[in-house]
Amino acid sequence: MASSFYITTPIYYVNAKPHLGHTYTTIAADVARRFHQMKGEKTFFLTGTDEHGDKIVKAAEADNTDPATYADRISDLFKNLWPHYRISYDRFIRTTDQDHIAVVKYILQKIYESGDIYFSEYEGLYCYDCERFFTSRELVDGKCPDHGKEPVAIKEANYFFRMSSYQQWLIDYINDHPDMIQPERYKNEVLGFLREPLEDLCISRPKSRLQWGITLPFDQNYVTYVWFDALINYVSALGYPDGENFKTFWPHVRHIVAKDILKPHGIYWPTMLKAAGIDIYKHLFVHGYWNVEESKMSKSLGNVVDPIYLKDTYGSDAIRYFLMREMTFGLDSSFSEVALINRINSDLANDLGNLFSRVLAMFRKYFKGAVPDWNPYESEIFGVDLKADAHEAIHAFSADMENFEFHKGLAAVWEYIGKMNKFVDSAAPWELARQESGRRQLETVICNLLEGLRVVSGLIYPVMPDTASTMLKHLGQNPDRPFYVIDELYKWGVITPGTKMPKAVSLFPRIDPETIFKEPSGGGDQNDKSSLTEPEIGMDDFARIDLRAATVISAEKIAKADKLLKLEVDLGFEKRTLVAGIAQFYTPEELTGKTVIVLANLKPAKLMGVRSQGMVLAAVDEENGAVAVLDRHIPAGTRLK
Ligand code: MSP
Repeated sequence: MASSFYITTPIYYVNAKPHLGHTYTTIAADVARRFHQMKGEKTFFLTGTDEHGDKIVKAAEADNTDPATYADRISDLFKNLWPHYRISYDRFIRTTDQDHIAVVKYILQKIYESGDIYFSEYEGLYCYDCERFFTSRELVDGKCPDHGKEPVAIKEANYFFRMSSYQQWLIDYINDHPDMIQPERYKNEVLGFLREPLEDLCISRPKSRLQWGITLPFDQNYVTYVWFDALINYVSALGYPDGENFKTFWPHVRHIVAKDILKPHGIYWPTMLKAAGIDIYKHLFVHGYWNVEESKMSKSLGNVVDPIYLKDTYGSDAIRYFLMREMTFGLDSSFSEVALINRINSDLANDLGNLFSRVLAMFRKYFKGAVPDWNPYESEIFGVDLKADAHEAIHAFSADMENFEFHKGLAAVWEYIGKMNKFVDSAAPWELARQESGRRQLETVICNLLEGLRVVSGLIYPVMPDTASTMLKHLGQNPDRPFYVIDELYKWGVITPGTKMPKAVSLFPRIDPETIFKEPSGGGDQNDKSSLTEPEIGMDDFARIDLRAATVISAEKIAKADKLLKLEVDLGFEKRTLVAGIAQFYTPEELTGKTVIVLANLKPAKLMGVRSQGMVLAAVDEENGAVAVLDRHIPAGTRLK
């Protein structure tokens, strides 16, 4: 029976739009899955979104909406992005899916009954951005190492998972399964964490502080800590405990994550599985960060690279290739459009594209478009054996892809492409064509090159499925096969005599950087700050936005909503009630009497039970907030243009 392969990506938080970092991981998963399909394995590919927790509540508040509506919207952005990059998953899971919620409750109950979850009062340092408690040892200069903020001391009663009791077990397990966490540096990092005493994990949040989560099955006053909820997606998606997919795929799981979430995956998840009596996952593959100008790409730094812009400008296959080839799996990499254009021009347009068009042009010229009667056993000519070289490339490629060393696998393919290019130059088919006696050699040279190109089309398939299919079609083969098969790549002589080939196309036209960077609003130049704003709009778009001067008549706090103020404002022609997410920056008294700017034609929305009829303009980030006010007297209701 064919073996199985189960690949997962992290489920992404719905507090921000997808960017190139998320796209990289999801493409890597797609590449791995296509490679395993080529091996004839039964595969399952899971991705999705992580939707509970404080982060999402905050993002929804900032967006003047409720968490469920907000999560729906951002989750769709992820879901709709993947087809642009030819990413085809089997399930897109959302932690708000009912079947997921049921499995989280089931596992919590199981662990609770086994005695590994207990209730206790806890006083600790809490980072709201990480949504977790820190020990003072974990802090850097008293601040959260990831967010650079001082955590807040809070005291509350919570439920705890006895993670500490699994510490020695986990150390032994990792040592007994040295390929569990790869590349090795990350295994060592996890073992490094485990050299310090492991604390128990706080797995609940009181509903008085957070409601947006899965209610604990054994205490209605608490919701589940978002990581305990999210990690379970990897088994709930398969229908754990009884689902057929769980039986088929769980024993073959590979998780891919970046190094930012090594700890939850390297420590929480295996101990949770152990406590729940579920087999430990097979492999965790950890990659580095994509940086832009030396900093990690992140929404708060404003340096995110938009995947849709990249695909529209360069095409999905070129981006997939660049991402897989440029990043050494496990290490950080720098993204720049200059590096991208260089790779497209050298590897794709020059090495692969030229070889393809040269060979096909010669084929048409010398054989009038139909494959001559050639002998595939004559794969060696002029001291070069393209079949033996192909086997070497397939072998190296397969081993590297198996280990998620995509960069190395592609380097092996390009080494083969380089050999073929050299062979064209040294065999000089144009010379052979001039001599009557060179006919047989000419046929052998060109037909071996065609076979070599067929092998290349198969080897690039996991990374560049569209290009693979174009190549195959132009080699006179059926491009509609669902996927390529490794075993067939080892065959030589698949392109049979008489095969006709359509007119060649240019696989990758060279890119002139001038054409990309000349437009100041092109959105691509890393130095062009306009790429950091929303796309351009015209005056007609702006005219639809009805901004008015408004006087704040009164303001008050909204019960149970730390961030929200209820304002009564005078718009001149009418009075309105608004809800504004600025309570952490202003007292109600400070706002009363100010002339603010109100978006007057915003669709009304209900927030914490209050109907908000418009929005007060304010500049807000995670730490600061300032309401826009008009700096001299102007009658309420005056329009801003
Ligand atoms: N929701 C959690 C994961 C729960 S999994 C049970 C989460 N979400 S996230 O939206 O922050 O996604 C983090 C992941 O996105 C990283 O692990 C990585 O896969 C990808 N990346 C985000 N930014 C990245 C880079 N700058 N570079 C590379 N990958 C990046 O953590």
